[in-house]
Amino acid sequence: MTGIGTITVIGAGTMGHGIAETFAIHGHAVRLFDPFPEMRGKARAAIAAELELLAETGRIGPAAAADILARIAFPEDLAEAVAGAEFVIEAIPEDIALKRALFADLDRLCAPGTILASNTSSLDLDDMIAELPGARRADCMICHWYNPAHLVPLVELSDFGNMDPADLERVEALLQGCGKKTIRVLQNLPGLIANRIQQGIAREVFALIESGAATPEDIDAALKYGPAFRYATTGQLEIADFGGIDIWCAVGDNLLPEISAAQAASDLLRRKIAENKLGLKTGEGFFSYGEGRSAEITRDFHRRLIRQLATIDDN
Ligand SMILES: NC(=O)c1ccc[n+]([C@@H]2O[C@H](COP(=O)([O-])OP(=O)(O)OC[C@H]3O[C@@H](n4cnc5c(N)ncnc54)[C@H](O)[C@@H]3O)[C@@H](O)[C@H]2O)c1
Repeated sequence: MTGIGTITVIGAGTMGHGIAETFAIHGHAVRLFDPFPEMRGKARAAIAAELELLAETGRIGPAAAADILARIAFPEDLAEAVAGAEFVIEAIPEDIALKRALFADLDRLCAPGTILASNTSSLDLDDMIAELPGARRADCMICHWYNPAHLVPLVELSDFGNMDPADLERVEALLQGCGKKTIRVLQNLPGLIANRIQQGIAREVFALIESGAATPEDIDAALKYGPAFRYATTGQLEIADFGGIDIWCAVGDNLLPEISAAQAASDLLRRKIAENKLGLKTGEGFFSYGEGRSAEITRDFHRRLIRQLATIDDN
């Protein structure tokens, strides 16, 4: 199996900068393209700050950051960014028209056989590539990272059967070589696997808050110190096996009729949006953060995830 050489990341926002950073941390030269100069500047600054924390916590060497940053090029032009690339991953906004236009550009600019991946969370791969020539479909896949991309191990992969299996294996080898845990999604499922699981949990959490069952602090504590404590090392199916499938069946029959089966996002979220309580970015969501503390709180969140990584390293 031949490895993947030149890597291009398109879109330097929340996800793109972290994806490029991950490849660079693991020794790959990577091009990070964004048409907006201010986004390229922000991405470089975010990567530098994240590398500083990785060095401070011993995840990278004390002097490694400069070399890692030097491996990331910030081309100003899409054609230059993808010239000779073997793996291109896009992380541009979740807008089907933008993604279709980008895939059409990539089809024009990239050599046949260049792997073209999308980091989409919810869009349909077939929809994004509907207008591409048939042969190009075999180059296209979903490669879905989690935020923050340089820290969360999971990457979900799916080509829905379009690709040469050897190419999928090359992508897996690339990501696993970067310390990622890859899974394959075998069906064309909106939201792939992890987001669907997360939405199931979130639906019940929002319903519990809405009903006044406990305070926001206690509901988050119940998740963190109960189920999520186990989930950090042990999957749901293992937990069912360890607890006993007969028990899970009985409890499921008793509780599932009682819990939320909502078919749309909670009205509580809509009320928060109407009040501009969007969370950290507006200073208040379910909790209050005060003004100007966003960078500090994000850094603390990353620090906690870095501690979690030590658990994953041991698993
Ligand atoms: N944010 C998340 O938690 C998350 C998690 C997993 C997947 N995703 C998916 O990743 C993708 C990117 O999300 P994000 O949160 O990083 O978005 P973002 O808005 O933070 O970043 C998007 C970047 O794309 C750039 N861009 C816009 N149009 C472009 C174009 N035509 N060509 C190149 N670059 C362009 C923007 O300047 C911006 O820097 C989306 O598909 C999203 O659904 C997001």
